[in-house]
Formats: sequence, structure tokens, C-alpha cells
Amino acid sequence: MAGYYLALSLHILGASVWAGGHLVLAVAILPSALRAQRAATVSEFERNFERVGLPALALQIITGLWLAHHLLGGPGNWFDDNPVAHVVQVKLGLLAATLGLAVHARLRVIPKLTDDTLTTLAWHIRLVTIAAVLFVLAGASIRFGGYPAFDH
Ligand code: HEM
Repeated sequence: MAGYYLALSLHILGASVWAGGHLVLAVAILPSALRAQRAATVSEFERNFERVGLPALALQIITGLWLAHHLLGGPGNWFDDNPVAHVVQVKLGLLAATLGLAVHARLRVIPKLTDDTLTTLAWHIRLVTIAAVLFVLAGASIRFGGYPAFDH
């Protein structure tokens, strides 16, 4: 019980940092950087945010896997056809999309970032932010029993 409370609390704290930081970036900082055509505004924020954002994402993955194990048992059960497993499947899909976007941004977009290529990075930021919000919605749905199959 204490382990569950600790893992869930850390998971919610990490979610606040990851989703909150990206919402601030996407909704407040990015529009003003695009208006001013100033890529440095975004890279400065990212440099600072990375220090808390990346540990927060790592924490989400560790505690998320722990919580999935707590609710469903081993990974062999995570792809079953039940409402809680469906949420875990959505979360694993969002995780793959987030990591794919992050790796692409870090290795391909950011090294060549100029004021003119800021729009490419802007799309990465918006998609990672949408994924972060969907992570929160999927997580909160567990309290309501998860996602039933569409044909039920
Ligand atoms: C940035 C990534 C993530 C965010 C923002 C996030 C966010 C959340 C939130 C807000 C909750 C609701 C907690 C509550 O109030 O009950 C939650 C629950 C949960 N998350 Fe995540 N999550 C993330 C990643 C993951 C990953 C990678 C997994 C593993 C597959 C995962 C598995 C779970 C599970 C199993 C629960 C249900 C916990 C419970 O109620 O017992 N999450 N998540």
C-alpha cells in the first residue's frame, strides 16, 4: 500500500512537471518566439527545462511501468483485452510517439535550428504537448475503470 501511494504520488508529480512544462512552452513561450522569429527563446527555455523535464519523464516511465505491473501483473498481461490494459496500451503508444519525436528533434532538428527552421521544431513541441495531455487524460481514466472495448 505504501509503495503504491509513493509510486502514484511520484507519477502525478512527474506528470505535473512534464505536462505543465510543455503547456507553458507550447502556449506561452513558443507563440512569442514565432512572432519574433527568434529560435533562441525556445532553445533557452529548453535548456533550462531539460534539467527537470528529462528526469520527470524518466520518473514517469519507471513509476508508470511499476503501476502497470501493480494493476495488471507482468508485461505478458499488458496486451490483454480489458479496460485497464487498454489504457496501458494507449500509454505505451504515446510513449513511443514521444520518444520518437524527442529523438528526432534532438538529433535532426535542434542541431540545425535557426530562426527560419523554428516552425519545424514548433510542430514537434505541439505534438509532444498534445501527447503529454493525452497521457494525463489516459491516466486519469483508470479511476473510472479504464477504456472498454469500442464494440461493447
Ligand atoms: C509523461 C508521461 C505520463 C504522464 C504525464 C502520465 C500521467 C498520469 C496521470 C495524471 C495519472 C492519473 C493518476 C491518478 O490520479 O490516479 C496516471 C496514471 C497511471 N499511469 Fe501514467 N503518465 C505517464 C506515463 C505513463 C507510462 C509510460 C505508463 C506505463 C505504461 C503509465 C501508467 C499509468 C498507470 C498504470 C496509471 C494508473 C495508476 C493507478 O491509478 O493506479 N503512465 N498517469
